[in-house]
Amino acid sequence: MTHHAHMGGRHLRELFADDPERGTRWTLSAAGLYLDYSKNRIDDETIALLVELARHSGLSERMAAMFDGELVNATEGRAALHTALRAPANESLWVDGVDVVAQVHAVLTRMAAFSEQIRSGTWLGHTGLPIRNVINIGIGGSDLGPVMAFEALKHYSQRGIDLRFVSNVDGTALAEATRGLDAAQTLFIVCSKSFGTLETLTNARAARAWCLAQLGDEAAVARHFVAVSSNARATVEFGIAPEQMFPLWDWVGGRYSMASSIGLSTMIAIGPNHFNDMLGGMRAMDDHFRQAPVDRNMPALMGLLAVWNNDFLGAATQAVLPYEQYLSRFPAYLQQLTMESNGKHVMRDGRPMGCETAPVVWGEPGTNGQHSFYQLLHQGTRLVPCDFIGFGQSLNPMGAAGGREDPQHDLLMANLFAQAEALAFGKTAEAIRAEGVPEALVPHRVCEGNRPSNTLLAQRLTPHTLGALVALYEHSVFTQGVIWGIDSFDQWGVELGKVLAEQTATELAGADDATSRHDSSTRALIERYRQLRAVRA
Ligand code: F6P
Repeated sequence: MTHHAHMGGRHLRELFADDPERGTRWTLSAAGLYLDYSKNRIDDETIALLVELARHSGLSERMAAMFDGELVNATEGRAALHTALRAPANESLWVDGVDVVAQVHAVLTRMAAFSEQIRSGTWLGHTGLPIRNVINIGIGGSDLGPVMAFEALKHYSQRGIDLRFVSNVDGTALAEATRGLDAAQTLFIVCSKSFGTLETLTNARAARAWCLAQLGDEAAVARHFVAVSSNARATVEFGIAPEQMFPLWDWVGGRYSMASSIGLSTMIAIGPNHFNDMLGGMRAMDDHFRQAPVDRNMPALMGLLAVWNNDFLGAATQAVLPYEQYLSRFPAYLQQLTMESNGKHVMRDGRPMGCETAPVVWGEPGTNGQHSFYQLLHQGTRLVPCDFIGFGQSLNPMGAAGGREDPQHDLLMANLFAQAEALAFGKTAEAIRAEGVPEALVPHRVCEGNRPSNTLLAQRLTPHTLGALVALYEHSVFTQGVIWGIDSFDQWGVELGKVLAEQTATELAGADDATSRHDSSTRALIERYRQLRAVRA
């Protein structure tokens, strides 16, 4: 607290002026990523205190427990072993008498064989035609990771296969995803760890009806539907045979599952080799997280800085700003990862939290955000720490001009650097006056600066880089959860809404007035909805 009060009075301008080496000293490289965290409101003492906080919170013990398969998700009595999903085949990890790494690689081998069949056109649909369209039906972790990875790695994808994603239970999602498609050339991946998620099962049933309406034969389901799930019984009940089900395990959390069979759509798009490269990037970051001391540990430092910004500087939100079009869905993916993991009001032992937990995560790819919400970032009354993400090379260079390789990419990156610089250093009233700006306008033109950011750079967006980036944020979120003492792997908060929605759906399906249990607002809304739906268009 004393240190916080001391740092509260310091400006990044001053911190940089005091230490000419700051911009190279507060940096770190790991797994192909370069992190510059110098534009945070920190000094040596801040880092030392944060490292001490990590030690005091038992970060290394919790980390070991997670990697070793202990039941770190105590409220659900589960391990959180997503790191085993990217362990190399020659390693073993025995949990309850089972080598989970061997299990993982057996499934990866099956996924690879199936993906190659789809990619090569040797998997034939019911009428003997190859598959041209793949629709992943899933929601939350069974959608956001796969969509993000598909968008991020589109450059590496086989363009002849059209991949689409349906998550929302809004019928429009499925209607638009199937519009114009030939069912005879379409494969559905029903992706649900529990195989009990209402949205996914509803969409899967509607997809089956769409498929059968075109193909007219129940037997078609076997060639046009596969499942990804840990619930073999429910997939069989749905009509998907066990050999068409790709399993995952209790110890893979939904939002940590994109390296598991939940990533089947990713593997179909980019192929098993690229998928393997992505796993390699994750593994490289896992190894770094396990081995590096906290003050040189990229995920741990990012997690600690997030806690510093959130709890000490009072930043309620966190912007993620990828200067890479292919990462357009990365902020959405991070929303679930961060907010479902750490949006908790009690600690592991059930005691109420004494401080704020997960920030609200949001963002858009650069430079679009600059013409929308950056005004608030620069001059708003709220402090919004930013993570900038950029690459040395574009995957779509726009051609040489004026002796430069890719001026368009230079322009993109110039924007990234300029924004981070402007946020940190701002523009003073004196500098504005010196430009002859009328006094009345000076306050409007001042940018106070002192707004923290991290910048992450890598050479190119590759499957390896994406893997490293994902694991970086996974472990940063884990670190934050450890500091706050919360269970980052459960999500009880989403249950209440699910239960109420199911009850209300039953009421809406019936004609009776079963709505009396609701409050007056919900009752009136349901009544109004009934009137609106009764009117024929
Ligand atoms: O939103 C709650 C949740 O359980 C997420 O944690 C999960 O990613 C999502 O629902 C989907 O779950 P499933 O894969 O079991 O359908």
